[in-house]
Amino acid sequence: MSHTQIAIVGAGLIGRPWAYVFSRAGSTVRVWDADPAALDRLPAEIAAMIDAAGGDPAIAERIRAVPTLAEALDGAALVQENGPERIEVKRELFAAMDAAAAPGTILASSSSALPASAFSAGLPGAARCLVAHPVNPPHVVPVVELCPSPATDPAVMARAQAIYAAAGQVPVLLSREIEGFVLNRLQAALLAEAMRLVDEGICTVEGLDDTVKHGLGRRWAIMGPLETISLNAPDGVPDYIRRYGPMLAGLADSCAQGEAFTASAAERVAAAFPQRATPEGVRAGTAWRDAELAALDIHLRSRARKD
Ligand SMILES: NC(=O)c1ccc[n+]([C@@H]2O[C@H](COP(=O)([O-])OP(=O)(O)OC[C@H]3O[C@@H](n4cnc5c(N)ncnc54)[C@H](O)[C@@H]3O)[C@@H](O)[C@H]2O)c1
Repeated sequence: MSHTQIAIVGAGLIGRPWAYVFSRAGSTVRVWDADPAALDRLPAEIAAMIDAAGGDPAIAERIRAVPTLAEALDGAALVQENGPERIEVKRELFAAMDAAAAPGTILASSSSALPASAFSAGLPGAARCLVAHPVNPPHVVPVVELCPSPATDPAVMARAQAIYAAAGQVPVLLSREIEGFVLNRLQAALLAEAMRLVDEGICTVEGLDDTVKHGLGRRWAIMGPLETISLNAPDGVPDYIRRYGPMLAGLADSCAQGEAFTASAAERVAAAFPQRATPEGVRAGTAWRDAELAALDIHLRSRARKD
């Protein structure tokens, strides 16, 4: 068994770009979905991704749809599960995958919020199960959060980390289960305050997005918020916290919480994007976003660190 064979279970919005990611890195990829129509759509969807991202046509040749779960899993180093975010479906899938996969195969779920213990506890192979949470779409946004259950073998985490890194992704290891993992906890905190500022009329939706797009986010594409503060005071982070810590602590204490996600805030935000009110509009916006992200990904991967 090598890293060169990967199984994709569930070929929806997230499963398809995962197939692309592993194939792009040279792995052969077998894809299975409970819905044969999803497999029928796969070649055209992969071709569209190659087209939009300027990918090598050979990427399509290494991806094969197969009619059974067992065929997808046979010989795979890692299974990336992308079924619906429903606990009963994930439990059933993980039991079936654990029964069918060779003992060395890693079973990873793309789950956005369900922790691995919720669908792997009690399975004979619970030690090889984890969450590998991507950001949509993973072929142009490389981070993947790796979160173990209490039963996950640390050696499995290390192997998974190596497999995702070899595929060109950026794995981030969590030490234990936490609701929302890291990315969605950060996103929730920022979104709550964004919704509140817009709902209270402090700034417009465009002004809010500009603040992140042309302000915070401009730096965040090359360094995270913690590295950002390492450059914002002459003597580094302790100096920064001495100078700005009390001000930031006060702001953090006054920031919005869950109550900010109101219907009126949602209406204000929606009104700023009338072209995104239908599935066609969302599809068009998604195609534009993915093409822009692909161009940014190429640019960022071409840059070496200077220090
Ligand atoms: N959409 C996102 O932005 C996003 C981001 C990160 C993680 N995720 C996670 O990825 C997973 C997949 O989400 P998605 O957005 O691709 O959903 P989706 O609805 O687009 O795709 C789900 C696919 O699973 C298939 N399916 C249904 N039951 C199945 C079964 N029993 N066995 C195998 N396949 C089955 C469906 O036919 C469909 O093709 C979820 O756990 C979700 O939380 C989604």
